[in-house]
Amino acid sequence: MQRDQISVSAAAWDQMRDGRPVRLYTLANRAGLQVCATDYGCTIVSLTAPDRDGQPTDVVLGYDRLADYMANSAYMGCVVGRYANRIAAGRFTLDGRTYTLATNSASGGLPCHLHGGRVGFDKRLWESEPVTEAGAAGVRFHRRSPDGEEGYPGNLDVTVEYWLTDRNELRVEYDATCDAPTVVNLTQHMYFNLGGHDRGTILDHELMIAAERLTPVNAGLIPTGEYVPVAGTPFDFRTPTVVGLRIDAEHAQLQYGGGYDLNFVLDQRDIQRQPAATLCDPTSGRRLELFATTPGLQFYSGNFLDSSHIGKGGHPYQRRAGLCLETQHYPDSPNHAHFPSTVLRPGQQYRHTAVYRFSTR
Ligand code: BGC
Repeated sequence: MQRDQISVSAAAWDQMRDGRPVRLYTLANRAGLQVCATDYGCTIVSLTAPDRDGQPTDVVLGYDRLADYMANSAYMGCVVGRYANRIAAGRFTLDGRTYTLATNSASGGLPCHLHGGRVGFDKRLWESEPVTEAGAAGVRFHRRSPDGEEGYPGNLDVTVEYWLTDRNELRVEYDATCDAPTVVNLTQHMYFNLGGHDRGTILDHELMIAAERLTPVNAGLIPTGEYVPVAGTPFDFRTPTVVGLRIDAEHAQLQYGGGYDLNFVLDQRDIQRQPAATLCDPTSGRRLELFATTPGLQFYSGNFLDSSHIGKGGHPYQRRAGLCLETQHYPDSPNHAHFPSTVLRPGQQYRHTAVYRFSTR
């Protein structure tokens, strides 16, 4: 399908263990931006962007084969849900009823529910179709998460769309509706290395996050419920700052996650015009501006990666080979009444848009 010089094509890629076909979609524009995504976990398997000299490189970490994504414990490139990030002890109460979710992680020895549980949205095959609109082409993914999946109440109808625009943007749109009260928090878990997925670490990248405050965590990476200012701390990214500059500073909030792994409270701003974050690789000149409608952003500096993660082209992804900027509601919100609510009720619509705009400097 071709429209306004942006194309979307679909091809057979592989198959699930039960034989269901798995597809790979390719979105491309004439400016050299290309996104490949599969219906397995709505996973973005590659994102190719030109550097300041026009040289294209794949700037997201990932794998070559479906089998590697199935075994993937690092959530490379996928959509995470029903609830992205952590829920303390895998428990929350809604309308007086307590729900028990799968506990699939134990940071600091404290069990929690992470990124949707044992078989989250990232490990499911979604329905998919190509879509076009003026100035953009994309792919729409849909799945119905059944009542009780991973312990969550209510059926949830989820749509995720990836749009490549003629403004060099990848726009991600999330929509969900339910038939019983539930909680929802969806995000995209791409690991970026704007120098190239196989170019070492992200420590030299310059990052800006439009956040005066963050939600500090305990040793289990669960928010304590407080808000603390970033001023005067290694978490002050209000102006572009080199990621590696303070990453190993003596600070409990860095030690719990072995580097950056925290939720930033995004400032009030014009969300159409003012990015939630910007990321720049000074060597290649690639620049990413991230616009988001969510109240929070998780900055995770890939601390749990190690060279046992063999990625695309056989490349081992060392610690901090890529970083995630996860547009999200605050972690563990179902257990913090004063955090922005993640409760979705029948008749309401969950909506979240994230725009990744690429340029060079
Ligand atoms: C979390 C990390 C977690 C990682 C898993 C990130 O979103 O913030 O704590 O280890 O996902 O890949």
